[in-house]
Amino acid sequence: TSKATTVKLQEMKRDRQKIVMLTAYDYPTARTAEQGGIDVILVGDSLGMVVLGYDSTLPVTMEDMIHHTKAVTRGSKQTMIVTDLPFLSYHISTPEAVRNAGRLIQEGGADAVKLEGGREVIEQVQAIVRAGIPVCGHIGLQPQMVNQLGGYKVQGKDFDGAKKILEDALLLQEAGCFALVLECVPTSLAALISERLSIPTIGIGAGDGCDGQVLVVHDMLGITDKYLPKFAKKYSELAEDMKAAVAQYAQEVRDGAFPEAHHGFKMSEDVLERLVE
Ligand code: KIV
Ligand code: NA
Repeated sequence: TSKATTVKLQEMKRDRQKIVMLTAYDYPTARTAEQGGIDVILVGDSLGMVVLGYDSTLPVTMEDMIHHTKAVTRGSKQTMIVTDLPFLSYHISTPEAVRNAGRLIQEGGADAVKLEGGREVIEQVQAIVRAGIPVCGHIGLQPQMVNQLGGYKVQGKDFDGAKKILEDALLLQEAGCFALVLECVPTSLAALISERLSIPTIGIGAGDGCDGQVLVVHDMLGITDKYLPKFAKKYSELAEDMKAAVAQYAQEVRDGAFPEAHHGFKMSEDVLERLVE
């Protein structure tokens, strides 16, 4: 299978072929994602929470995103890579937004960028797209707005909220986005938006009516032992396996069960004899 492109993703929507997106932040995970047949890898700013240990995405910097995107590109040559523009990297001015989007492509090696927001970021989206950089939108729950939202909550449950999200979706499509992430919105709203748009929607906590799905890799592999959002499905319990493996290693070193002879290297007897003389 060849690397997905923005054009390919639109064809997939047309052909009702679901788009599979997964986050990755490093080389081994990118390799796993590619070998597992993921269509699009997202170097999400969730990096801040699941890899860097911050309690929100707000502290994540451009340098963090570039550093991790570089690692991901080394691990997945045949998979489309989208990288998040971090908090404040596209709000100060449109030229700064274009510059930072460009850095994720030029220095990081990403194929496209993603940014959060609706009507407030239309000018930035248009300018980044004009520079030849594909942009994925992200509406519904916008984690970079957590301090304004008062927590990570479902968005668009009432008429006004739902109407705003639907309008923003159409504005982002018009501004040139190639796809749209819908996070934590009611299933019926996400399905309506997906029907109204010609560009694909990628849902997370947005139900089965979206054109694709995205999950945070640490959530779906069970690598994190923290609280898991309702929308995340655990396909593995790696944190348990990892803890058990580490505990067994510690025990075996203390017991002398590890290392065994075959883990070591041999030297001829006479060299040893000469040394002990
Ligand atoms: O940063 C991230 O992982 C994301 C996904 C949850 C869509 O933006
Ligand atoms: Na993100």
